[in-house]
Amino acid sequence: MASPVLKVSGLTKRFARKGHPDVLAVSDVSFAVLPGETVGLVGGSGSGKSTVARLITRLLEPTAGTIVLDGQDVSSLHGASLRELGQAVQMVFQDPAPSFDPRRTLLDGVSEALRNKGVPRADAQARALGLMRRCGLEEALAYRRPREVSGGQCQRAAIARALLPDPDLVICDEATSSLDVTVQAQIMELLAALRRERDTAYLFICHDLALVQDFCDRVLVMERGRLVEEGTVERVLSHPSHPYTQALVDATLRA
Ligand SMILES: Nc1ncnc2c1ncn2[C@@H]1O[C@H](COP(=O)(O)OP(=O)(O)OP(=O)(O)O)[C@@H](O)[C@H]1O
Ligand SMILES: [Mg+2]
Repeated sequence: MASPVLKVSGLTKRFARKGHPDVLAVSDVSFAVLPGETVGLVGGSGSGKSTVARLITRLLEPTAGTIVLDGQDVSSLHGASLRELGQAVQMVFQDPAPSFDPRRTLLDGVSEALRNKGVPRADAQARALGLMRRCGLEEALAYRRPREVSGGQCQRAAIARALLPDPDLVICDEATSSLDVTVQAQIMELLAALRRERDTAYLFICHDLALVQDFCDRVLVMERGRLVEEGTVERVLSHPSHPYTQALVDATLRA
């Protein structure tokens, strides 16, 4: 079997808040993602999904546990090595606009990762423009600022930005949740097409089980910081074994 692109073991995050009890947001979570695989991560609001994503991308420091990316333990990386890791794992957020610099063009934002790697400006921009076009953004839009485009257009730019450094893993955290259903369908089609073209693995965080059913190979279910169920999409969504998954499926898929 291929070695996993991502393997997390015993991942735990405890938020300490002065004068308040600690929040155990993620508790002893272990799972792996294989190259090219799409794994859904579902669970109710506050179950710890975004915290898992922020731990893997090291926007947050884990309280305990290890994160192994392409065979390298990244749990305790800092500085330059952490920035290098930033290229191998990319993230697409629910609301893309704040992740772009408001004063700079989308093209600057998309090409930045290549520029940071030392790719000359003209070359980085040409490659960024090509991928933006592939993501459905005509050239004129590339010269706009994030507030001068629609939510769907900005999300297309965010997807181009995530894919440009050719990452091994893309984490989508509710990447289509704030878009209207037509745009949501277009973005899902784009992600599916890009997935066919490249051997990128996806961790797809989503509260919409129907989307997970369409898009994912495997699914992980979180409840109150713990992983309560894991399996193929067919098995988990048609024969959920944990009561929490059963309730989630009943409430959203069989409604
Ligand atoms: N910086 C923080 N300080 C304290 N508690 C936090 C912090 N960030 C998240 N939490 C808590 O950790 C828990 C998990 O939050 P998280 O954002 O990971 O949930 P989620 O599954 O992504 O939820 P949603 O579906 O609503 O996005 C929640 O109880 C949340 O209140
Ligand atoms: Mg979240």
